[in-house]
Amino acid sequence: MAGVRALLLAAAVCACARTEEIVSTPKPKKVLDTIMNPSYIPAEEKHGSYWKKSAASTLKAKLEETPNTNKAKNGILFIGDGMSVATIMAARTFAGQLDRGLGEENVLEFEKFPISGLARTYCLDAQVADSACTATSYLAGVKTKYGVIGLDGNVTRGSCFPQLHKGNWATSIGEWALEKGLDVGLVTTTRVTHASPAGMYAHTSDRNWESDADVPDECLSLGCRDIAYQLVMENPGRHFKVIMGGGRKEMLPNVSNALTPSSGRRLDGLDLTEMWHVDKIKRNATHQYVTDRNELYKVYNSEELPEYLLGLFQDDHMDYHLQAKNQPTLEEMVEVAIKMLSRSKNGYFLFVEGGRIDHAHHDSLAHLALDETVEYSKAIKKAKSLTSEEDTLIVVSSDHAHTMTVAGYPSRGNNILGTSDTAYGDDNMPYTTISYANGKAASIGADGKRVDVTLSQEFMNGDLGYSYPSLVPLDSETHGGEDVAVFAIGPWQHLFTASYEQNLIPHMMAYAMCLREDKHSNCKPSTKTNFWSTGASTRSSVSSYASILTVIVTFRYFY
Ligand SMILES: *[C@@H]1O[C@H](CO)[C@@H](O)[C@H](O)[C@H]1NC(C)=O
Ligand SMILES: *[C@@H]1O[C@H](CO)[C@@H](O)[C@H](O)[C@H]1NC(C)=O
Ligand SMILES: *[C@@H]1O[C@H](CO)[C@@H](O)[C@H](O)[C@H]1NC(C)=O
Ligand SMILES: [Zn+2]
Repeated sequence: MAGVRALLLAAAVCACARTEEIVSTPKPKKVLDTIMNPSYIPAEEKHGSYWKKSAASTLKAKLEETPNTNKAKNGILFIGDGMSVATIMAARTFAGQLDRGLGEENVLEFEKFPISGLARTYCLDAQVADSACTATSYLAGVKTKYGVIGLDGNVTRGSCFPQLHKGNWATSIGEWALEKGLDVGLVTTTRVTHASPAGMYAHTSDRNWESDADVPDECLSLGCRDIAYQLVMENPGRHFKVIMGGGRKEMLPNVSNALTPSSGRRLDGLDLTEMWHVDKIKRNATHQYVTDRNELYKVYNSEELPEYLLGLFQDDHMDYHLQAKNQPTLEEMVEVAIKMLSRSKNGYFLFVEGGRIDHAHHDSLAHLALDETVEYSKAIKKAKSLTSEEDTLIVVSSDHAHTMTVAGYPSRGNNILGTSDTAYGDDNMPYTTISYANGKAASIGADGKRVDVTLSQEFMNGDLGYSYPSLVPLDSETHGGEDVAVFAIGPWQHLFTASYEQNLIPHMMAYAMCLREDKHSNCKPSTKTNFWSTGASTRSSVSSYASILTVIVTFRYFY
């Protein structure tokens, strides 16, 4: 195999004038088993005719495309949190190698979509964004400040009073859809109160105010509500037909005493799962609260689905798919959500987040980040199979990038999680194809030398808990600032091409779905429904204040 590699190497890298160095560098003694030997390069790929034929058939399909200007009855927005373009490439290769292919030629489900574009993710005050300002961007269509959700740039992070001023609110496409009589749902693998899903329903000047225990007392006394409370008790969250994810602890009271520790964090004594139930009873709506996969399965198979479904499958975020026990997969949650929402004659808007790609990256756990991306792709495949591109617009994107790179000159089919098989560094040590610009596993050891990853048992075993090396030591790897990809299929998919600001996304979806003032010719003339007057708003009204109190939180949390 080494011989084959050497040959391939000579052919592949001669153009970069490094052949000599590479040849004089000792070959890696220990590399992870490559899944495929390069001699397996499919024979047909070696002929130019193969590439010309495949290009011709793709071109032909493109020439046959006609713009789909139907009304999008349904809209589904998928966000892979932290799913950079490098993550997409690495995940497709990883999935292809699991399928015993070389990997590089594999295509993830959303990469089959006919249209793609690029979205710029910077926020008002940040070159590199977080998930709060970006959620406000891709759900409410407004760019705002770092750490802020559902409020515009007139609001400083952590300031209480401006959060209550409705003039500062940026409402989400979920709310726009409700106003037009559509059903709305959200599904995530994070806490349902985490930044991305909160973009669907919350107006909070700090993303960390997930339960009342996180909100400063001054803000509570002004009437500011935590994110969990807003989801269950206020508009538009209390009208969402489907809410699934993790985060029970933000909903439950902290009733800890010396004998019984409690998983709940709330200090106001509220059990929001109970209040969700009471709210639905008051509205005479059938509803079901589930906490594990078996219970969800029962709902899915019940003769009559409940009108409302709340699924909270973990106290905290849901577990990584590869480490999960009795929790549904993202694909299963999406299947249930679509079954629930498809009953709506006016259509629906569904937000789905593959939220833990980001968390795996923050811990430099590339293996888990790639697997979470593959799970995300499976959920998209399921959504596509359950809907029709004649009436459902599916948009797939990410909120921001990460610092992971895919580097070196590894040969075709080389294990994407392994070391680059063709060369050592100038320090005569192997290096991993995947590495991070910053993160918890510093590439330089205590002796001032670069760490030899092949001496790590964890690395050699392909352990899920192995953190890939990084240049700048940081407890938590950071987001990246480059653009994210946007993929679209369905009515008005063609709008999603080109390079644009991230906040354009919900406006284009809303246009396709006839949720905006400006309408295309396939929108029916709007029948005025006054959703909120029938929906008995319980939003606490803010009348007067003795003083305007502003608490500025001066530090940033990096998630
Ligand atoms: C900004 O927010 C404040 C409340 O904090 C409000 O009084 C003011 O009118 C807002 N400014 C604009 C331009 O909306
Ligand atoms: C509940 O409150 C106790 C006492 O203040 C505290 O030690 C504990 O960490 C809290 N539990 C949670 C889950 O926040
Ligand atoms: C509640 O719903 C049931 C079944 O849909 C219906 O028969 C009943 O009249 C409703 N009651 C009220 C008070 O709306
Ligand atoms: Zn993050």
